[in-house]
Amino acid sequence: MRLQDKTAVITGSAQGIGKTISELFASEGARIVISDINMEAARKTAGEIKAKYEVETIAVKSDISKFTDCEALVKASLDKFSKIDILINNAGITKDNLVLRMSEVEWDAVIAVNLKGVFNCIKAVSKSMIKQRYGRIINIASVVGQMGNAGQVNYSAAKGGVIAITKTCAREFASRNILVNAIAPGFISTSMTSKLTENQKQVISSKIPLARLGNASDIAKASLFFATDDSSYITGQVLAVNGGMYM
Ligand SMILES: NC(=O)c1ccc[n+]([C@@H]2O[C@H](COP(=O)([O-])OP(=O)(O)OC[C@H]3O[C@@H](n4cnc5c(N)ncnc54)[C@H](O)[C@@H]3O)[C@@H](O)[C@H]2O)c1
Repeated sequence: MRLQDKTAVITGSAQGIGKTISELFASEGARIVISDINMEAARKTAGEIKAKYEVETIAVKSDISKFTDCEALVKASLDKFSKIDILINNAGITKDNLVLRMSEVEWDAVIAVNLKGVFNCIKAVSKSMIKQRYGRIINIASVVGQMGNAGQVNYSAAKGGVIAITKTCAREFASRNILVNAIAPGFISTSMTSKLTENQKQVISSKIPLARLGNASDIAKASLFFATDDSSYITGQVLAVNGGMYM
C-alpha cells in the first residue's frame, strides 16, 4: 500500500480520469476527497470507492472556478481528515471553436475552470501544505498546451498556463517539501473525447506512434508515480503521456 495514511483531494473526480485516479489511489490505501461540480455523481463515486476499497471517502461540491468554493473544499477536507497530502488538479472543460468563431463567453469559461481553477485550488491548499512541510501537487495539463491545436485556442492557452503554473509553484514551494508536477495527456478515451466520430478517432490514431487513444488508467498510473516517494527528487516537470504523438 503505497499511499497508506495519505489524503488525496482530486478535483473533477466524479467521472473520467479523476475517478480512475481516485480508484487507483484508494487501492493504494489513500483517503479520497471526491470533488466535483456534479454532486450527485460525486456522491455515487465516493460511495462506490468506499465500498470497494474500504477507505474513507467524502464527496464535496466545488466549482473550482470560484475561489470561495476551493477554500470550502480545503476546509471540508481538513475538517474530515485533518490533513491534505496530495492535490490533483484534474477538473477541466472544453468549449472548442476556431479563433474567428470563438465567443468571449467560450474563452472566459475555459480559462476560468482550466486555468484560474488550478490557481484557486493550489492557493487554497498551500497554507496547510506549507505548515505540514509536505505536499504533492499534480496538475493535469494536456498535449495541446505543448503543441497547440486548431479549434482549441482557449483550452490550449489554459493548459499551457497550467504548465507555467506548475513550474512557478515548484520553485516557490520546493523549500517546504511540496513537489509540483504536471501530466500532459494526449487523447484519452473519456466522455471528453466521446464526441469524436470513429473516423476522427482513426485519423488521430494514425498520427500517434502507439496508434491508439490512451486510457484513463495510463494517466492514473503516472499520477501515482508523482504522488509517491518514487518521484521525491522530481519537481516542476511535465510528463507526456501521449503515445508519442508529441515528443
Ligand atoms: N480526455 C482527454 O483526452 C484529455 C486529454 C488531455 C487532458 N485532459 C484533461 O484531463 C482532465 C479530466 O478530463 P476527462 O477526460 O476525465 O473529462 P470528463 O469530462 O470526463 O470529467 C471532467 C470532470 O470535471 C468536472 N468539472 C467540470 N467543470 C468543473 C468545475 N468548474 N469544477 C469542478 N469540477 C468540474 C465534471 O463534472 C467532470 O466530472 C481535464 O483537465 C482535461 O482537460 C483530458
